[in-house]
Amino acid sequence: MEAADIHHIGNPTNRVDGRLKVTGAARYAAEYEAPGLLHGVIVSASVAAGRIVSLKTERALSVPGVVEIFTHENCGSGAWLDRNWKDEVAPPGHPFRPLHSDRILFDGQPIALVVAETLEAARDAASLVTAAYEVGQHCTELEVKRSQAYEPPEKRSGIPPPPEPRGKAEDAFERARHRISADYRIRAEHHNPMELFATTCVYEGKDKLTIYEKTQGSQNSQGYVTSVFGLKTKNVRVINHYVGGAFGSALRPQQQLFFAVMASLELKRSVRVVLTRSQMFYIGYRPETRHAISLAADNEGRLTSIIHDAVAATSHYEDYQESLVNWSGMMYHCDNVKLSYGLAKLNTATPCDMRAPGAAVGVTALECAIDELAHAAGIDPLEFRKRNFATLDENTGKQFTSKALGACYEQGAASIGWERRSAEPGAVRDGHELVGLGMATGMWEAALMKASAEAKLTPDGRLQVSTAASDIGTGTWTILAQIGADALGLPVGAVTPLIGDSSLSASPVEGGSWTAASNGSAVLAACEAVKQTVFKHARKMANSPLAAASFDEVVFLGGRIALRTDPDRGLSLAEVMHASDLREIKASRKAAPKLLQMRKYVSYTHSAVFAEVRVDRDLGIVRIPKIVCAVAAGKIINPKTARSQILGGVVMGIGMALHEEAMTDHRLGKIMNHNFAEYHIPAHADIADIKVIFVDEQDDKVSPLGVKGLGEIGIVGTAAAVANAIFNATGKRGRDFPITLDKII
Ligand code: MOS
Repeated sequence: MEAADIHHIGNPTNRVDGRLKVTGAARYAAEYEAPGLLHGVIVSASVAAGRIVSLKTERALSVPGVVEIFTHENCGSGAWLDRNWKDEVAPPGHPFRPLHSDRILFDGQPIALVVAETLEAARDAASLVTAAYEVGQHCTELEVKRSQAYEPPEKRSGIPPPPEPRGKAEDAFERARHRISADYRIRAEHHNPMELFATTCVYEGKDKLTIYEKTQGSQNSQGYVTSVFGLKTKNVRVINHYVGGAFGSALRPQQQLFFAVMASLELKRSVRVVLTRSQMFYIGYRPETRHAISLAADNEGRLTSIIHDAVAATSHYEDYQESLVNWSGMMYHCDNVKLSYGLAKLNTATPCDMRAPGAAVGVTALECAIDELAHAAGIDPLEFRKRNFATLDENTGKQFTSKALGACYEQGAASIGWERRSAEPGAVRDGHELVGLGMATGMWEAALMKASAEAKLTPDGRLQVSTAASDIGTGTWTILAQIGADALGLPVGAVTPLIGDSSLSASPVEGGSWTAASNGSAVLAACEAVKQTVFKHARKMANSPLAAASFDEVVFLGGRIALRTDPDRGLSLAEVMHASDLREIKASRKAAPKLLQMRKYVSYTHSAVFAEVRVDRDLGIVRIPKIVCAVAAGKIINPKTARSQILGGVVMGIGMALHEEAMTDHRLGKIMNHNFAEYHIPAHADIADIKVIFVDEQDDKVSPLGVKGLGEIGIVGTAAAVANAIFNATGKRGRDFPITLDKII
């Protein structure tokens, strides 16, 4: 077998952008320079509700180097004239319009932008801006608003509302042999990607901008800018070649984009605006949720009733929604199900998608409740889940295109050594530690979104594949190169991927774990079209060894097109192109979901997460020596970057279980731990052995590549597995996340 015969899809390929990243050559949004670049620093409100009575800017304006201070009184007259502002990720409501009025809706709301010749001058001046407020009533406490929760009148696009009730959940609960009712709380979390939110807006002349922007969707940001500022699409180019993490926080255009563009247009200069780490806490976040769950089972441990009522926080100006409780109707077989999902308005910024939005918290609550019911029924929690396996999506009655969850259960259990689990909580001691095992099921969507791509082959044997996708650290650059290389039978090094630029082929934002399947399938389709063209020209050549062949009979290998049955008989791609005098062969193609198939099928990724915890008997300190995450996600394009995604998801799940929470002083309506010193995320010492297993899963329906995509599935179920292991170790239920040691002692 020749080297070129190796399949790149499925190979643990190194990141093609790895060297650029570790050497610092990969540039991020705040690292681009422009002549005469100005720096903008945002001034934030210090009250949670009310209106601005006056803003004092004289002292700030006197700082040498300060160019302008924008407030609601002099802010961008050209902005927001188009009422049809664009943001494909926006929930129903009115988007936050920075400096649009004197109203204050949340603490930390931007109230001014100081623009100066240097960052130092801008920062210094920003500290001198003072505001007087007429302070209004605020509420930042979900529990207070819980009783006023409402069903959002307008549904967010792409988010299914809870399904209609089926069966008689309350009656079945009353009659059941085994039942539990519990209340779960999962506190607000903040994304905190390493890279701060940043925009460098380069003013290229009359209303023409090149914008280097931290975003998960260059074209979404472009649409926002053109609609908010009334600019032509061809005059606004958004570039996001490299993104230092985002987890959903960069799906929507954030405030720094507005500010950089507004100031740039007003001052006719290039402007950079970077949020501080603290300001990162006043953009979208994972809302706090409360879950009242009642479950019941019969004598055989079969679920007879599932009731899940959830309430989530949103802002005063938008109805942010996620698929929060729907999972409870589809993860297990049950005939009596009743689910509800309400929102409560708080004085905070609008929450936004954060890794596996909805599932990360909804499934956590459900999976803890399942563990409680299994325990009440005296059945091993893994066995309990197997008995209640759902072979259909019972919310819709549709079939799964594939569901290798059984293999996840088997392989995950074997890897953690599930047989050593004691059924009795608190029974296993090792020195001063209590040892426990817990597990949970995970589930996430496997979506195929409409995406397009271009492929271009040149006579030097190089292939360029391009699409306006993003790589938020997920490995998009690399997998697109692998897909192109596989299609044309080239080494990965012969493929140049181009992404992160709004001028490339249309793409959705990078989110929902759909990029590999969607953009990957578009790249594959474009490559297939290029191959067809090569074949057509190859057949026409004088004395072509392929003259009598059909397309099915040829293979692309080692830079050649040849007969599948006799690879020696063929032509090099360069020969074919020279013979036809072609400087390039180019094709654009789209990938899109098959609507007919979607009437019958749904696609999801599945996982089983197993955790071993050790809890200090005296101090309540929880250690997690081992977590196993067994994932069924269809074909894995790159086991190396895929594993990295699951590792990251599991780490965030550990953060949800033990560390992460926004702590708000509700009297002031202020987040008190808006920094990395006090907002705890798992550190190296918190993470030990994480084993990632990808079980074999063939799926010829989910996407042309057989790929389901992953990234978000890694967090789903992880926090519940940890909580369930803590129960097994200690006999104490953690129902309030994060389960900090004060809740265990
Ligand atoms: Mo993901 S929360 O869709 O970036």
